[in-house]
Amino acid sequence: MQTVTAPPRPRSGPRFFDQVTDGRDRARAELACTLLAPRASIPPKHFYDRLGSALFAAITELPEYYPTRTEATILSAHRAAIAARVGPGATLVDLGAGDCRKAASMLDALSPAQYVAVDISSAFVAQALEALQREHPALDAIGVGTDFAEALWLPDAVRTARRTFFYPGSSIGNFAPPEACAFLARLRALAGGDGGLLIGVDLAKPASIVVPAYDDALGVTAAFNLNALRNANALIGADFGLADWRHVALLDASASRIEMHLEARRAVTVRWPGAERAFAAGERIHTENSYKYTPESFAALLVDAGWSTTERWIDPKGWFALVHAVPAG
Ligand code: AVI
Repeated sequence: MQTVTAPPRPRSGPRFFDQVTDGRDRARAELACTLLAPRASIPPKHFYDRLGSALFAAITELPEYYPTRTEATILSAHRAAIAARVGPGATLVDLGAGDCRKAASMLDALSPAQYVAVDISSAFVAQALEALQREHPALDAIGVGTDFAEALWLPDAVRTARRTFFYPGSSIGNFAPPEACAFLARLRALAGGDGGLLIGVDLAKPASIVVPAYDDALGVTAAFNLNALRNANALIGADFGLADWRHVALLDASASRIEMHLEARRAVTVRWPGAERAFAAGERIHTENSYKYTPESFAALLVDAGWSTTERWIDPKGWFALVHAVPAG
C-alpha cells in the first residue's frame, strides 16, 4: 500500500503586532527636542518609512556598499557550521528584518520552530513577511513592528524557548558603544539560559573603502539621508525643503565611526507647529553614526554585555565578522 504524506498545512498568514503607531507622540516630542538642541540631530530611526526601507534595500545593491554582500558570502560559505551552532528548533528573532531576505536564505538550514521578524518599518516588514510566508507556508511566522532600539517588546505569541537573536548587517554599529553594550545586555536578559545571538559586525578598514560605502556615486545614500527630512516633515509638520540640504559622510578614525550629516546649503529657518529653528549656511544636522569594530573590541563588548562567543566567521579580506554567542556563565 502506498503511503501518502499530507503536505504541510498552510497557515492563514503571519500574525502581525504593530506597536510603532502607539509610540508616535513620544517620537514627535523626541524629534522636536533633537532638532532644537545646540547640535541638531535626527535619530536614525527616522530613515525608515516604506520609502526609506526601499532606499536602504537599494543601498545594499550598490557596488560601494560592501557590508551586506560580504556578510552574505559569510552566511553562505559557513551555512552548515552556523546552523550547527544555532541548532534546529530555535525561536529565531530577526532584528531589523527589513525585506526578510537574509533570514530567508538561512531558514532551510536553521529550521527554526518559529520565525519572528522585528522592524521599525511596520508596513514594509509586514509585506515582506507575507511574501516569506507564501514561500514557507508551514512556517510559524510572527511580525512585530516596534522601535526595538528603544525597548524590545515581544508579544506573548513569541516563544520563550531557545530564543536566538539574529542581528545581521552590523546595525549594532548604529549605537554608540555604551548603548550597544546596554542593548546587547537587554538581549541577553531576553535570551534566558538557553538562547543565543547571531550578529554581524562591520570591521574597521581604510577610509578609501569605508567612506564611498556611505557616499556612493549614484547618490542613493544621499537620498536615504535626505528622506529623514521628509519623515520629519510628516511626523511633526515641519517644512524642511530638501533642496536646502546636502548629504555629508565623514570618517572619524579616532572614534572608529562613519558619521552622516545633512548640511544646510544656505541659511534657512525650519518651522513646525509651536517652534522654529534657524540654521546657518554650512550648519549640520547629525543623522547617523556607524561604528566599526576590531574582532577583539567586539569580543570585549560581548563579554561586557554578558555573552560568551562560541565561534566567529570572517571573510578572507577581513572586512566583516559574523559572531555566534551564548549567554555567559
Ligand atoms: C542599517 N545600518 C547597518 C546601515 C549602516 O551601514 O550603518 C545604515 C546605513 N547608513 C548609510 N548607509 C547604510
